[in-house]
Amino acid sequence: MRKAILDVDTGVDDALGIMLAIRSGELDVLGITTVNGNVSLETATNNTCKILDLIHADPAIAVYPGAAQPLLRHPVFEHRIHGQDGLGGALANMQPVDRVKSDEFGPDFMIEQARRYPGEVTLIATGPLTNVALALAKRPSLVHELKEIIIMGGAVQTYGNITPVAEYNMYVDPEAARLVLQAGFPRLTMIGLDVTRHALLTSEHIDAIGPSEIADNVRQSTSDYMQRYFERNGVQACAMHDPLAVATAIWPELVETAQHYVDVETRSELCDGQTVCDFQNRLQREPNVSVGLKVDSKQFINRFITVLRDTD
Ligand code: BDR
Ligand code: CA
Repeated sequence: MRKAILDVDTGVDDALGIMLAIRSGELDVLGITTVNGNVSLETATNNTCKILDLIHADPAIAVYPGAAQPLLRHPVFEHRIHGQDGLGGALANMQPVDRVKSDEFGPDFMIEQARRYPGEVTLIATGPLTNVALALAKRPSLVHELKEIIIMGGAVQTYGNITPVAEYNMYVDPEAARLVLQAGFPRLTMIGLDVTRHALLTSEHIDAIGPSEIADNVRQSTSDYMQRYFERNGVQACAMHDPLAVATAIWPELVETAQHYVDVETRSELCDGQTVCDFQNRLQREPNVSVGLKVDSKQFINRFITVLRDTD
C-alpha cells in the first residue's frame, strides 16, 4: 500500500478527503498533520480527530499539529464557506478521542517519516502550504526523500475563489506556496480549481452514499457549502477540491496533467496568491509542476461514492 501523509486545514472538503483516503484502503496513512487555514489550527486539529472518529479510523493514526499562522501574514479564515466550526455544523457536539499523542510538530513529522521511508511517502497537502514550507526550510533534501507531493491549490486557466485571480490555499500563504513550488520537487502535482471546479458533488450523489451515518454527515456538512457554491456559480453542488487531490494519489489516471513552470505572486496588491503558469515557456525555465488540466469527473464521483458507501 502506498504510504501517505495528509496535511489538512479541516474544513468540509478536507474532511471528505480524509474519509476518502482512509476508507479507500489504498493508502497507508502514516499520520495527519494540521495547519491553520479554513479555521484555526486548534479547530482544524479537533475537526480532524472528529472525522477520524466518525469513520472509525485505526486508533494508531495520530494527528500532528503544525503551523498556527502563515509564514508572514495574518490568518484568513473561511467561516463563510465551512461554517464557524469548519464542518458546517455537523459533529458540533462530538467530543473526539484526542489523537495528538506526542509533542511532535507537524513539519517535523513529515521530515521524520520521509527519512524513515525514503522514496516511499506521498505527501497530500490540502491546506495552505505553511507546514510544507517549514519542513523544507529545515530539511531541503525532503524534496528527494518524499516519493511525491500532491497539492490542492492554484488556478491557472480559471478565475480565483478568494480574490478574482487567487485560489484560497495559495492566497493564505503565498510565500510558503512559492517556496514549495520553487524547492525542486521532482514530482509535484497541482490539483487546482481548473479541475476541482469540474468535480462536483450533488445531493443526488450523497443519497447514493447512504442511508448511513457517513451519508448523514456528508449531507449536513455540505449543506451551507453547496448554498455558497450556488450563490457564486448558479449550480447546486459543491466542488470536491480536497478529495480530488486525494483521489489523484490513489487513481492518478483520473486527472490529465501537463508539465509547466509555475510561480506564485507575492508582491501585488491585486494578485497576491495568483499561480502564474508559463504555458508557452516564455520565461525559459525548467517545468516544476505537473498541472492538473482535465478530470474524469464522472469516474471520480462514482469512486468517491463507492468508497464512502457502507458495505458492512
Ligand atoms: C481550498 O480552499 C479551502 O477552503 C478548501 O478546503 C480547499 O482546500 C479550495 O480553494
Ligand atoms: Ca483545505
